[in-house]
Amino acid sequence: MSTPAAPTASTSAPGAPSQAIGRGQIVPVSLEGRSYEIHIGRHLLCEAAGLIAALSPGAKAAIVTDETVGALHAPALEASLQQAGLASSRITVPPGESSKSYARLTALCDDLLAARIERNDLVIALGGGVVGDLTGFAAAILRRGVPFVQIPTSLLAQVDSSVGGKTGINTSHGKNLVGAFHQPALVIADTALLDTLSPREFKAGYAEVVKYGLIGDPGFFDWCEANWSRIIAGGPERDHAVAVSCRAKAAVVARDEREEGDRALLNLGHTFAHALERLTDYDSRRLVHGEAVAIGLALAFRFSQSLGLCHGQDALRVARHLDAVGLPSRLQQVPGGVGSADAIVAAMAQDKKVKRGVLTFILARGIGRSFIAPGVAAEDVRAFIAAELAQG
Ligand code: GLY
Repeated sequence: MSTPAAPTASTSAPGAPSQAIGRGQIVPVSLEGRSYEIHIGRHLLCEAAGLIAALSPGAKAAIVTDETVGALHAPALEASLQQAGLASSRITVPPGESSKSYARLTALCDDLLAARIERNDLVIALGGGVVGDLTGFAAAILRRGVPFVQIPTSLLAQVDSSVGGKTGINTSHGKNLVGAFHQPALVIADTALLDTLSPREFKAGYAEVVKYGLIGDPGFFDWCEANWSRIIAGGPERDHAVAVSCRAKAAVVARDEREEGDRALLNLGHTFAHALERLTDYDSRRLVHGEAVAIGLALAFRFSQSLGLCHGQDALRVARHLDAVGLPSRLQQVPGGVGSADAIVAAMAQDKKVKRGVLTFILARGIGRSFIAPGVAAEDVRAFIAAELAQG
């Protein structure tokens, strides 16, 4: 894949396609009766209100954000909504994973009711994955479902969590165990908002970008290898990476909205990642989700290699790319360690993708050739992890 041309407006959205705002790109998500568009480009936030207002003329909007993102970006959105004649209120939640809780969900639903958000009004999630997941779930259950708009402000949220309608909260039993599928009515991915992310947070989101190449697009992985520093720097390469990722995710979601088949491919690296997050107590000082995914991607390829499925050169290439970007690729890189192979396998067994004690993995026959492997023997996983840990 060559360097992308400057972004151009393009649309083939189902229903009534809108014009791209600014010089943005539009990626359609095609779902029977619930199709929507993802608008991607720099500085879209200031022009967002026109699209939002068109969803439900005369609606009120409640913006849900966190303290950090709200201070940086909510005023621009509010000004844009005001200009478009849309009344809005702002609800702020604390930043961080702890906001994906029953307590915060209850408080948010009450706040939305107090703001008199009705079924023809709009809830806008302005933030990263936590805000998007929590707000989407509140929107799913408030008055049995109100429409919501995703304005993701982290790379991870732009390329993954804001698209596809997975919403939910965490419980003491694990992450995302209570939730609903509730598709947004619109996603606006303003890639200039990513300029304010810390390098660590940006890179963590980049692991999910690489994932799309590894799942089914070897040309995109080649392109990422050549262009990753320009994606971080911003400009057309960043927009291209977000658009390719969203297109890949939209295609999978359109085929399998409720993860009854193919959508599980998006979990490449995630069975390992969720176990590592659990074993580090979801402590973002030690490991954030995207870093766990990076290690998970490298492990998924080395595990595939150890099972004789994938060439060692491919596994090495994946790890080398993650290393070049500054992402972890080995268990030993988790600060404070992650315990024994038994502990890691036990943590995997808690994962909601485990059915009747049998592990389902996403494995690979090569870069861009991932597949769903049900019935992977826990002993094979344990032996592989033990060998990884023994490498010191
Ligand atoms: N993040 C994986 C999915 O949306 O299915």
